[in-house]
Amino acid sequence: MFKINENYLKLPGSYLFSAIGRKVAAYSQAHPDKKIIRLGIGDVTQPLAPAIIEALHGAVEEMGKAETFHGYAPDQGYEFLRSVIARQDYQDRGCQIAADEIFVSDGAKCDSGNIQEIFSLDNRIAVCDPVYPVYVDSNAMAGRTGSYDAGTGTWSNVIYMPCSMENGFVPSLPEEKPDMIYLCFPNNPTGATITRAQLQEWVDYAIRTGAVILYDAAYEAYISERDVPHSIYECQGARNCAIELRSFSKNAGFTGVRLGFTVVPRDLKCGDVRLHDLWARRHGTKYNGAPYIVQRAGWAVYSEAGRQQLQEQVAYYMENASTIYKGLTEAGYTVSGGINAPYIWLKTPGNMTSWEFFDCLLEQVGVVGTPGSGFGPSGEGYFRLTAFGSHENTAEALDRMKKLTF
Ligand code: MLT
Repeated sequence: MFKINENYLKLPGSYLFSAIGRKVAAYSQAHPDKKIIRLGIGDVTQPLAPAIIEALHGAVEEMGKAETFHGYAPDQGYEFLRSVIARQDYQDRGCQIAADEIFVSDGAKCDSGNIQEIFSLDNRIAVCDPVYPVYVDSNAMAGRTGSYDAGTGTWSNVIYMPCSMENGFVPSLPEEKPDMIYLCFPNNPTGATITRAQLQEWVDYAIRTGAVILYDAAYEAYISERDVPHSIYECQGARNCAIELRSFSKNAGFTGVRLGFTVVPRDLKCGDVRLHDLWARRHGTKYNGAPYIVQRAGWAVYSEAGRQQLQEQVAYYMENASTIYKGLTEAGYTVSGGINAPYIWLKTPGNMTSWEFFDCLLEQVGVVGTPGSGFGPSGEGYFRLTAFGSHENTAEALDRMKKLTF
């Protein structure tokens, strides 16, 4: 008789955004006449930029002719894409990252879930609390997180690093020693950022203690302040201790197109084993490369026209962030984030729990957000709104929220 991976049975409920999706679907079925405004999942709403559409069309045409047809993509991604990433995202910022240290994939969510596979099950992970749930769930599925305590919403073998208003939502170095440290800045869900000096402390700590940092920089395009690093490789020594994950979803609207990449520097080693070789081995066995068409679209993100158009798109969303931030502040909410990130993190009013506020918002005014407690115990009493809606819907959501009664 076959056996299942029992680690899956330890997972609490369902994936956060699936649970929200189900609640919203039930509400909308019961109230078909009500217009729901979705500021929950960080899904983009603006169409793909013209430069990207043009590249997609061009690539589709190529696929239709024998001379320019492309079959399986190289495991690690096409050189035309990896080299432009290495140059524009890294070398132009003074980071020594080479094209062959970049692994193109179908998105940062998959990479951030899969990357744990190349590490021993004995490793102890540390995560910010609140945290993007994929880091913890993927380690739980692998059997690295111990047992789940439904009362506290914590795993016995995970080091939680609380991020609160008091520490500006930037965690302190942990007292217990982790082997794998997940950091995400600009942060999902709090929208907080880390300064270069603060991030350097983490890099120094990882080198000192022999830990690896898994750095999720999916939201770097939203950085507006100067001392906020766009990449962990802006810190000295990071090539020896950090892997970086990047996405095309938020900077270029690829949530439905799917493209991302992971940087594994050749200097990053465990003894004399390069993590680069392990990830290359894993990629070669389990992945057949992102589609040519999509990689061509990714390449257009770095073209002059693409960069210009995407800057405008990011600015569009950040105008929403400012609308939400200002509107909620005026309405008396305690608000953070939204300056270098497309997420606004607010304290729930009237001491409501995160889910109570979710229900209240949905039922009273038809606005969907994300309950902070879904991201971890320290998220309780908080709520996340995304800036990825349209201007019209964002403004309407704010008007509606001002009418809430508690
Ligand atoms: C979020 O809402 O946290 C993100 O959209 C999730 C993701 O990027 O996978």
